[in-house]
Amino acid sequence: MDEEFEQLTVPPDGRSPAEQPRWRQDFPIDWPQDEYLSRREFIKFLLLTSAAFSAGQLWFLVANFLRQREAAATAQVIARVDDVPVGGSLIFKYPADDSPARLLVRVDEETFVAYEQQCTHLTCPVIPHIDVGELHCPCHEGVFDLLTGRPLAGPPRRPLARVTLEVREGNVVATGIEKRTV
Ligand code: FES
Repeated sequence: MDEEFEQLTVPPDGRSPAEQPRWRQDFPIDWPQDEYLSRREFIKFLLLTSAAFSAGQLWFLVANFLRQREAAATAQVIARVDDVPVGGSLIFKYPADDSPARLLVRVDEETFVAYEQQCTHLTCPVIPHIDVGELHCPCHEGVFDLLTGRPLAGPPRRPLARVTLEVREGNVVATGIEKRTV
């Protein structure tokens, strides 16, 4: 930096560059100092854009990892058929213990459905209303279809993620998660 200041012309008051008022440092009349500030700003810009790019890449990797983990979800028994009465429901975690809460609902003797429990609007937990065939979100009166998980009313625009199920040997088995955008 000293080298660069050596190239400067002497300011009108004759004082050194370090003693000059702030306005003259911010708006230098000397080309070398002006270029020095421009280079410094450019390097700052490069560092910030690199950091933003790296953060974006990291987020992409984490999201990819989570997607793959969900895609690789293995079959898991989540309840005995006899333990969930018609009209009953239960909360479970799938595919891992730290996964978001899922909601299993027994619609009739033969039909079970399961969804991510968080509303697709602002993540409040949805509540089954079996008598009207809907899942309600009490936060902003969101309504989803019980059999499909698709939004019917209120602010939600995206369907609930569905947990695919099978009944095997008297057990309700979760086999995967189906994320849907429409
Ligand atoms: S959080 Fe469910 S409707 Fe807003």
